[in-house]
Amino acid sequence: METIIKLLDENDLDLKILEQAGKIINNKGLVVFPTETVYGLGANALEEEAVKKIFIAKGRPQDNPLIVHISDFDMLNICAKDINEVAFKIMEKFFPGPITLILNKSDKIPKVTSANLDTIGVRMPSNKIARALIKKAGVPIAAPSANISGRPSPTDVERCIEDLDTRVDLIIGGGMCEVGLESTIVDLTVTPPCILRPGKITLEMLKEIEPNIYIDKGLIIDSSEKPKAPGMKYKHYAPKAEVKIVQGDMKKTIAKINEMVQNYKGNKISVGIMATEETKDFYKDGIVISMGTRNDLSSIGKNLFETLRSFDDKKVDVIISESFYEEDFGLAIMNRLKKSAGFNIIKV
Ligand code: TXA
Ligand code: MG
Repeated sequence: METIIKLLDENDLDLKILEQAGKIINNKGLVVFPTETVYGLGANALEEEAVKKIFIAKGRPQDNPLIVHISDFDMLNICAKDINEVAFKIMEKFFPGPITLILNKSDKIPKVTSANLDTIGVRMPSNKIARALIKKAGVPIAAPSANISGRPSPTDVERCIEDLDTRVDLIIGGGMCEVGLESTIVDLTVTPPCILRPGKITLEMLKEIEPNIYIDKGLIIDSSEKPKAPGMKYKHYAPKAEVKIVQGDMKKTIAKINEMVQNYKGNKISVGIMATEETKDFYKDGIVISMGTRNDLSSIGKNLFETLRSFDDKKVDVIISESFYEEDFGLAIMNRLKKSAGFNIIKV
C-alpha cells in the first residue's frame, strides 16, 4: 500500500491532517504517530479487524497484548472496569504522561487487543499530536511501538518510515520523542501493584502513592523468574550488530572497552562505542557516540534507541556500551540496554 507521510508541529497542530488521520482510524486503517515516549503504530482498539492489521504490519506475535491509548478520562470506562483506588490515585498524579496501567478489561475491547487476557494496558499520552489524534478518532487507539517486532523502538519519524513504509496508511512525524524509552507499566490488578516495565515514572515516584509497590522479579537479572508482561520475554530492541555491555568501575570500564576495540580491530571487526559526555574523549579507536551526560540520565534515555539504530547505519559489527546505575531512570535505561544485548554483560 502507499503510505502517506505528514510532518506536524506539536505546538501548532494542523487540524486537517489530524482529521484525515482520525478518519483513517475510523475506517480501520493504521496510523503511526508520535508520543512522548516512542512512536506508536495505531488502530481502532475496538475493531478486531483493525487491530489484527497491527500484528501483521509489525510481525508481532499474536500472544503479545497491546496498550490502548485514551485522550481523556471519558474514554477510561470504554477500556477498563472495576478500577481500584490506587489506580485512580496514580492516574490523577501521572495521567497524561509516560505510564501505562494494567486494569481489568471491559467487554468492549475485543480479545485480539489484549491477546486473550482479561486485563488491558491503558495509557493517556501527554504528546499533543497523540491526544488530538485520539480525540479526532473518538475511540481508544491500540498502539505498540512503531517498529518491526524485535527492533529498537523508533524515537524519530525517519525510523518509523524505515520500518513501516508501505505497511501502514499514514505516518505522522512530530519531532524526536521527549523520553525516548517506552512507558512504565504498572499492574493494578494485583495487590500490591507491580511494575512490569520500568520507565520515566520510577519506582520511587510510585512509592509515594503506594509504598508497597514493587518491581517484577522477572525483570531482575540472575532471577530465575519469568517476566510477567508477555512482551518482555521476546527478543527485543536488537540492532543488527551484536551488543555487549561493560559494567563496573568507570576507569576499568574505559580500559576494558579500549582493550576490546583493539582486539576487534586486529580481526578487522568494526566497533561502535556507546559513551557519554564524561567518557567519550577517553576512547582511542572505534566509532564513538555520546548519548548524553551522566548528570542527566534523561539525555541518555532520549538517545539510547536512536544510538543503537545509528550504529546499524554505520554498519558496525559490534556495539559496546558503558553501563549506568540501576536506580531511578537508570533502571529503565539498563533494562532496555540489557535486552538489546541479550544479557551479554562483561563485568570489570
Ligand atoms: O510508551 C509506550 O508504552 C509505547 C507508546 C507507543 O505508547 N507503547 C509500547 O507498546 O511500548 P508495546 O506494545 O511496544 O509494549 C507493550 C508492552 C508489551 O511488553 C506487552 O506485553 C505489555 O506491554 N502488555 C500489554 N498489555 C498487557 C497486559 N494486559 N498485561 C501485561 N502486560 C501487558
Ligand atoms: Mg515495543
